[in-house]
Amino acid sequence: MEPLLSVNHLSVTYKGNSLALRDLSFSMNKGEIIGIVGESGSGKSTLIRALLGLLPEGGQYIGGVISFQEKVLLRESQSDWGGVRGKRIAMVFQDSGSYLNPIRSIGSQYIEAICTHFTVSKKAAYTLAVSMLANMGLDDPERIMRSYPSQLSGGMKQRTAIAMAVTMEPELLLADEPTSSLDVTTQNEVMNRLNELRSRQGTGMIIVTHNIAVAAHMAERIGVMQDGTLVEMGDTFRVISDPQHEYTRKLLSAVPELEGSVHGS
Ligand SMILES: Nc1ncnc2c1ncn2[C@@H]1O[C@H](COP(=O)(O)OP(=O)(O)OP(=O)(O)O)[C@@H](O)[C@H]1O
Ligand SMILES: [Mg+2]
Repeated sequence: MEPLLSVNHLSVTYKGNSLALRDLSFSMNKGEIIGIVGESGSGKSTLIRALLGLLPEGGQYIGGVISFQEKVLLRESQSDWGGVRGKRIAMVFQDSGSYLNPIRSIGSQYIEAICTHFTVSKKAAYTLAVSMLANMGLDDPERIMRSYPSQLSGGMKQRTAIAMAVTMEPELLLADEPTSSLDVTTQNEVMNRLNELRSRQGTGMIIVTHNIAVAAHMAERIGVMQDGTLVEMGDTFRVISDPQHEYTRKLLSAVPELEGSVHGS
C-alpha cells in the first residue's frame, strides 16, 4: 500500500541555531494515528509545522523530501502545498481557538470555510456546521454559531476550531497539543471524538502530546523525539512494554499507571 505520508531525511534549522530537526524519516499509512512525544524543545512543533510548510519566522528547510500520497510537497527548495493545506491536510494548534477571527461570528466564518471547500448552499453549510459542533460535544451549537469568539470559553473555542478543521474531511490531521488547554474531562471527550472521526472517515492523524499516556491511548504507533531526532518509533504496545531508548524509559517511568490504558488492550 502506498503510504499516506512519507518523510525522508528532513532537516530544519532556525537562523543561527543548531538543527531543530535532524535527518528525520518516517512514513505512515492511511487512517493511522501516530503519537509524537518528547521533552520541551525536542522539535515536535517544528515537525508538525514543517509537514505543512508553516515553519515559524526564521525556520528554514535544510534538506529532505515530504510526500503526501502521490504528491511531493517538498523536495530541496521546491515546495508545493497548494490544494493540500487546509483541505486534504488540516492542522490543529494548541491554541487554535485564538486563530478564530475575533470580529466575526463563529457561524459566518464557519459557513465561509465550508463554502470555500465544498459546493454547498449556505443553508446546508449551516446544518453541517451545527452537527459538527454537536459532534465535538458542544451543547447548544446554534448559540455557538451566533456567538463571537470572545463570548466563548477557551475550551469552547478550541473545540470549535477542531470541529472546523475536521469538517473539511482531511485525509491527514496534524494536531499539536490539541487538548492541552482543556480540562481533563473535555480532553477525554475531544480525544474520543477524534477517534470516532478516524473510524468514520479513515482520517490519519499525527498527534503531538507531552503526555505519553494520551499517546498510548490514541495511537497505533508512538514516536519519541529528543533533540530534533526520532530516537524511537514503533508500535504503541512495543514502545510501552519494551522501550529501546533510555529517554523513552525515562518518560514512561513518570507515568506508572500507564499499564492497562495501552491502545487495544
Ligand atoms: N521561531 C523560532 N525561532 C528560533 N528557534 C526556534 C523557534 N521555534 C522553535 N525554535 C527552536 O527549535 C527547537 C525545537 O522547538 P519546538 O518548538 O519544535 O519544540 P517542541 O518539542 O514543540 O517543544 P514544546 O514541548 O515546548 O512545545 C528548540 O530548540 C527551539 O528553541
Ligand atoms: Mg511545541
